[in-house]
Amino acid sequence: MELKYIKDLKENIGKEITLQGWVANKRDSKGIAFITMRDGSGFCQVVIAEDDLKTNNFEDSKNLNLEASFSVTGLVIEDEKQIGGFEIKAHTFALISESVDYPVTNKEHGVDFLLENRHLWLRSRKQWAIMKVRNALIFAIHNFFQTKDFTLTDSPIFTGSAGEGTSDLFETEYFGEKAYLAQTGQLYGEAAAMAHGRIYTFGPTFRAEKSKTRRHLTEFWMMEPEMAFYDLDMNMDLMEDMIRTVINDVIERCGAELEILGRDVEALKSVNQKFPRVHYDEAVQILRGEKDINGVNALEMLANDISVKEARVLELNTEIEERNAIINDNVSKKGVKNFNRTKVAAAISEIKDVEEDLRNIPNWLESAKTFVHGNDLGGSDETVLTRLFGCPIMVYNWPKDIKAFYMKRDEKDNNYVKGVDLLAPEGYGEIIGGSERETSLEKLLERIAAEGLDKEDYSWYLELRKFGSVPHSGFGLGLERLVTWVCKLQHIREAIPFPRTSQRLRP
Ligand code: 4AD
Ligand code: MG
Repeated sequence: MELKYIKDLKENIGKEITLQGWVANKRDSKGIAFITMRDGSGFCQVVIAEDDLKTNNFEDSKNLNLEASFSVTGLVIEDEKQIGGFEIKAHTFALISESVDYPVTNKEHGVDFLLENRHLWLRSRKQWAIMKVRNALIFAIHNFFQTKDFTLTDSPIFTGSAGEGTSDLFETEYFGEKAYLAQTGQLYGEAAAMAHGRIYTFGPTFRAEKSKTRRHLTEFWMMEPEMAFYDLDMNMDLMEDMIRTVINDVIERCGAELEILGRDVEALKSVNQKFPRVHYDEAVQILRGEKDINGVNALEMLANDISVKEARVLELNTEIEERNAIINDNVSKKGVKNFNRTKVAAAISEIKDVEEDLRNIPNWLESAKTFVHGNDLGGSDETVLTRLFGCPIMVYNWPKDIKAFYMKRDEKDNNYVKGVDLLAPEGYGEIIGGSERETSLEKLLERIAAEGLDKEDYSWYLELRKFGSVPHSGFGLGLERLVTWVCKLQHIREAIPFPRTSQRLRP
């Protein structure tokens, strides 16, 4: 039997069809039950009316609780008012397996509770939409590189040396020897590029990040292209082309999912502008308020943010008061009270976020104003920069001491390296880090020593510079950072099915 799915309903209007799935929501009254069915491919309304049933089992619909599994056979009716745009008028239905006291309900839950229940939370509509977008992004990235004849080469996960500095290495024991979980596939990607010209790796990478931030996971997926005969400018052209192509693909393929997420698609279309290329020195000037962008000064923007957020707190408090009055009155119906309870919980949670911003913004302001040339950009500095430009930007040419040993020294100024970070707009910050690679053996050895690394660990890597070395470049795109921005999430932990952070190893 060929299975049918909710996504196929548009080809089956007016026909009888059988679907199998789960109860995502249910309302019932005498002789009729309205069920939102989900089957993994989408959502639709199923109406089980006692009078329309060809079987005599309406009573069984009582057991169709939240997340119970069931099958239904019925008529497909187009109805744009319904979720997904279709309704099934049931002729027969059967419970497959019951679900009693499903813990993740439609009311507001705390994030810790949701993370404890991640194995179930994944079924929720918003989480479903995020994972669909993630899938579409992965597909679009492969499509972009495969169309351009890049060869996918996989890099190892057990490694014998640090790829990206030693501060956040996960160490493990490997048959009596020390080994590390890969922080990057890059060094192996460079070897593969000398074999295939243009390659990309796409796999899990690991960083023992202890800090609790909205941008860091300890396990994340990275896509890393590496290209022989590319300089920094060609590298930046490729990054820009890839981000533009991938985002436009996803806008086209994931309209329904982005709508579920309430994503403003117009903001994503900012990728169709040329991405400004900002020298590190210029980025510092902008941060310190010494240079305006499109007539906006970074420091003034932050000061203004404070008043906007203060006004928002007042507005939310008023809303909570009004809704509490409804919850406590003697006239409103139970449904109306419940609706208001959910809204109050949402407002309280928003106030927490806004108050956190209000505590942070004065620090951001201070950090921007007093930014010391030569330092790395912090998360808040990236947020400030990207809010000034309404589109992705690329910050290039960084002070050598804050970047990895393999970045190529700038011929014009020996204190800078040809590195580049691509920062996503709307405050999201770095989603890509890349560079032209150092080809001088002497400079590589100097930087390896300066970072306290053991040159023996890199002997194979250094050989790439001895046998037909060529100029080459590459970059790494953090998949979850990309998903977080595209879906406009508050926190990176929702961008991966089972997030790993310093606070979480389970489920
Ligand atoms: O900037 P990073 O450290 O660069 C590299 O690893 C290079 N070897 C890449 C290359 O040139 N081939 O990391 C690249 C990207 C970051 O821009 C960010 O998107 C992501 O990886 N990333 C993280 N994502 C989630 N959690 C973390 N802890 C991350 N650390 C880096
Ligand atoms: Mg980086």
